[in-house]
Amino acid sequence: MLFRLSSTLALTLPFLTTADAFWRLNCAVIQTGRVDPVVNPGTYAEHAHSIVGGSNIGVNSTFNDLNASPCSSCEVQADKSAYWTPLLYYQYPNGSFFEVPHAGSVVYYLGRGGGVVDGIVPFPAGFQMLSGNKAARSYDNETMTWGNSTYPGRPVADRVSFACLTAAGVPQTPYMSTPTLCVNNMRAQIAFQSCWNGVDLYKKDNSHVDYLSQIDDGVCPPTHPIYLPTLFVETSYAVTQVPPHADGSPIEDSRYVFSQGDPTGYGFHGDFINGWDLDVLANAVENCLIPDNFGQVSYCPALYASDTNGAAYNCPEQPMQIEEPVHELIDRLPGCIQITYGPEAASAESMACGPNDPPQPPIATTTFMTPRSTASPTPGASFGISQQQRYLGCFNDTFGIFRTLNSASVTNYTAMTVSWCQQWCADRGYRLSGVEYAQECHCDNYINPTAISAQNQNLTVNQCTWDCGGTLTADFDGPQELCGGLSYINVYNNTDPDFNASGNDDNSAGNAQPYAPAAAFGSNYLGCYTDSDTRTIDAIDFQANNMTIEHCATFCASANGGIGYQYYGLEFASQCFCGNTINPAATLLSPTSNPPNSTCQMRCAGSGAEICGGPNALSLYNATAYVAPQVKPSVGKFTSQTCLSDPNGSAGRALQGGYMTRKDMTVELCIKYCLGTFYKYAGIEYGVECYWNYHEYCGGPGFMNLYYSPTL
Ligand SMILES: *[C@@H]1O[C@H](CO)[C@@H](O)[C@H](O)[C@H]1NC(C)=O
Ligand SMILES: *[C@@H]1O[C@H](CO)[C@@H](O)[C@H](O)[C@H]1NC(C)=O
Ligand SMILES: *[C@@H]1O[C@H](CO)[C@@H](O)[C@H](O)[C@H]1NC(C)=O
Ligand SMILES: *[C@@H]1O[C@H](CO)[C@@H](O)[C@H](O)[C@H]1NC(C)=O
Ligand SMILES: *[C@@H]1O[C@H](CO)[C@@H](O)[C@H](O)[C@H]1NC(C)=O
Ligand SMILES: *[C@@H]1O[C@H](CO)[C@@H](O)[C@H](O)[C@H]1NC(C)=O
Ligand SMILES: *[C@@H]1O[C@H](CO)[C@@H](O)[C@H](O)[C@H]1NC(C)=O
Ligand SMILES: *[C@@H]1O[C@H](CO)[C@@H](O)[C@H](O)[C@H]1NC(C)=O
Ligand SMILES: *[C@@H]1O[C@H](CO)[C@@H](O)[C@H](O)[C@H]1NC(C)=O
Ligand SMILES: *[C@@H]1O[C@H](CO)[C@@H](O)[C@H](O)[C@H]1NC(C)=O
Ligand SMILES: *[C@@H]1O[C@H](CO)[C@@H](O)[C@H](O)[C@H]1NC(C)=O
Ligand SMILES: *[C@@H]1O[C@H](CO)[C@@H](O)[C@H](O)[C@H]1NC(C)=O
Repeated sequence: MLFRLSSTLALTLPFLTTADAFWRLNCAVIQTGRVDPVVNPGTYAEHAHSIVGGSNIGVNSTFNDLNASPCSSCEVQADKSAYWTPLLYYQYPNGSFFEVPHAGSVVYYLGRGGGVVDGIVPFPAGFQMLSGNKAARSYDNETMTWGNSTYPGRPVADRVSFACLTAAGVPQTPYMSTPTLCVNNMRAQIAFQSCWNGVDLYKKDNSHVDYLSQIDDGVCPPTHPIYLPTLFVETSYAVTQVPPHADGSPIEDSRYVFSQGDPTGYGFHGDFINGWDLDVLANAVENCLIPDNFGQVSYCPALYASDTNGAAYNCPEQPMQIEEPVHELIDRLPGCIQITYGPEAASAESMACGPNDPPQPPIATTTFMTPRSTASPTPGASFGISQQQRYLGCFNDTFGIFRTLNSASVTNYTAMTVSWCQQWCADRGYRLSGVEYAQECHCDNYINPTAISAQNQNLTVNQCTWDCGGTLTADFDGPQELCGGLSYINVYNNTDPDFNASGNDDNSAGNAQPYAPAAAFGSNYLGCYTDSDTRTIDAIDFQANNMTIEHCATFCASANGGIGYQYYGLEFASQCFCGNTINPAATLLSPTSNPPNSTCQMRCAGSGAEICGGPNALSLYNATAYVAPQVKPSVGKFTSQTCLSDPNGSAGRALQGGYMTRKDMTVELCIKYCLGTFYKYAGIEYGVECYWNYHEYCGGPGFMNLYYSPTL
């Protein structure tokens, strides 16, 4: 069974049974280094870990510390637990190590065990455990889980597995095979014990817990009769992000090695300290481990209530507590760890510092942040730099050229607060400011009319849940502020009547052209039409950086020698087209067409308050003042004949009797002239002289309107 998660992780769970009830959480790193409050509380861990989960993680952390974390780097904020696994290194032929970047962890809570899923109890306060054996260097096929004839056991070593993610897919192994081949990352996986003795929250030998007979399914041994959720933690390592070595040494002389000195993977392990909001966990275990939810937090109200797709931003990696290099290139494994190849178990000496090793680095005193109250204004309320700044709501904001606010923007994670953004926009002449994605500030004087606020979407969960980057720093002393989310923006309006809203919509921040309010459409608006290589209207066009709808209307009306055109249309903010016929191949777009008519949403280059089409989309208008000129059927005895070609080339003029030009040319004047010169044909042709008459055709370039009278 294959699950798709976020954009990059493809997940495979081994041995999925019919009871596929589970949930899973995406997690980012919260702390790295030799921190392991389960095995080595208060001091250095033997080897380095990457930890995900509650931000109050440190060498001394307990349930209470974690539970009080301001945030979690796992997506569900009610889960302040800590989960950790070893760091992975790549050792170059010259002996240096490079940390294989952590590519995210996924924590699974599985409802497993002999059909007793409804008997699962949530992890209690203070509960912690470790799964795996850091010293293992080979597959132990003899140590089995508990089982009986109905529910046979299996090798305990199967708790560890590796998935090498390639396009083709490679079978999972209980050891690290060839990480270099894992072009889509290598995933190390650890299943935890699901059976509890019901008494001890932790025992150093982990005998307070035991595995299900099949580890990820089966029954609990009689000694450990309490069924817990089955924890399954996946850690992804970005093996392709290790720089290749440059010195020409054979690749055989390099290796992947875990921080416990393990080049095999058999010694992979994981630790867990419960830090959950116990009510939420109990609710989720009761209601979300039974039905098949495909692992989705969104199907579990208890979890979804505190779900954030921005955990990595909301809860960034905390400063290292043990001041010792572990990232990128290092010359030795942290903690004096030596590499041991097995098959025998690694000795304790290979994982301890000797008298000749350098002194241990200092441990920074744990100074946990306490959660701040979250400041989240209600729509209409004042918030920010002045009383006049009013919160308008949480709006959707699709990344692309048509943003909710799109005149200027800046990205600055460490500085971003609501006030910072309001000031930044005000300084540039914009009333509206919006914070998004923890780190972005957008400004405008108009809201994209297609933007919908969270309230209008009837969402049960507000999507603007990300903390502002600038409020997460230790020196920020106000309440924690919210800065939108992924594709959601908190919008504020500066309602100060004296504010000089002079933002010039100049795209100075590198944005593509913006949207404008729908109210700008006039009654003669025909709609948004497709416009590609075959133009919708194509008599003439022009482009201007100060384009407005009026500018285009005036241009088209005065073109064609002042006769104008029936239609004018605007496209891509700065283009104006004029024409008399709508190309039948052009399509009128609607809200449900593909593309939708909202493609016409670009703000006019010359006015932020108006829409001037979109990409390959024309805002089309009917020129109501336009009067189509008529060919006069007759003047006196002269009747209209035809439109005659008059090339004015070497063959000579079509009519060679004489000519005159007048700026105020009319058919009558021409015929009067012809009568005066006794010609039976009168031809009126293009020339400046004809152009100030709106109601009669006076030929065109190279063509004349021919009139004839049989008698004079
Ligand atoms: C474990 O593996 C060894 C070596 O392959 C083999 O000799 C032994 O029979 C196996 N034991 C079990 C219980 O499968
Ligand atoms: C095996 O263990 C399960 C769970 O304890 C128990 O229900 C079952 O009766 C046992 N089967 C045998 C054959 O002992
Ligand atoms: C070892 O090799 C790596 C990769 O080529 C290189 O980056 C590093 O500087 C080398 N280390 C030493 C100590 O030369
Ligand atoms: C851990 O706790 C012990 C005992 O309370 C204390 O002495 C020590 O300073 C703490 N260590 C850190 C790094 O906070
Ligand atoms: C907001 O959502 C609506 C409905 O899905 C969509 O039509 C519109 O384009 C979105 N607007 C923005 C600015 O993202
Ligand atoms: C972010 O804002 C801070 C404070 O205004 C400033 O010092 C810093 O240079 C800015 N960073 C970037 C990348 O613009
Ligand atoms: C939101 O709910 C109200 C009241 O139930 C309803 O009238 C409105 O149409 C809903 N809006 C959307 C966008 O679903
Ligand atoms: C913002 O406030 C100004 C001044 O009160 C008001 O004219 C404008 O309509 C408001 N804009 C929005 C989008 O509410
Ligand atoms: C508003 O700001 C613009 C641009 O800075 C300036 O040209 C204009 O004079 C200002 N208007 C007022 C009333 O201050
Ligand atoms: C647009 O800009 C052009 C050239 O910069 C200028 O000649 C013209 O007057 C402007 N038109 C309007 C309507 O502002
Ligand atoms: C899209 O069509 C709807 C319904 O006809 C209309 O209300 C809206 O103004 C149109 N939008 C654009 C940009 O043409
Ligand atoms: C544009 O207006 C003219 C004159 O009112 C009318 O005859 C014509 O049908 C209109 N065109 C469209 C596409 O509505």
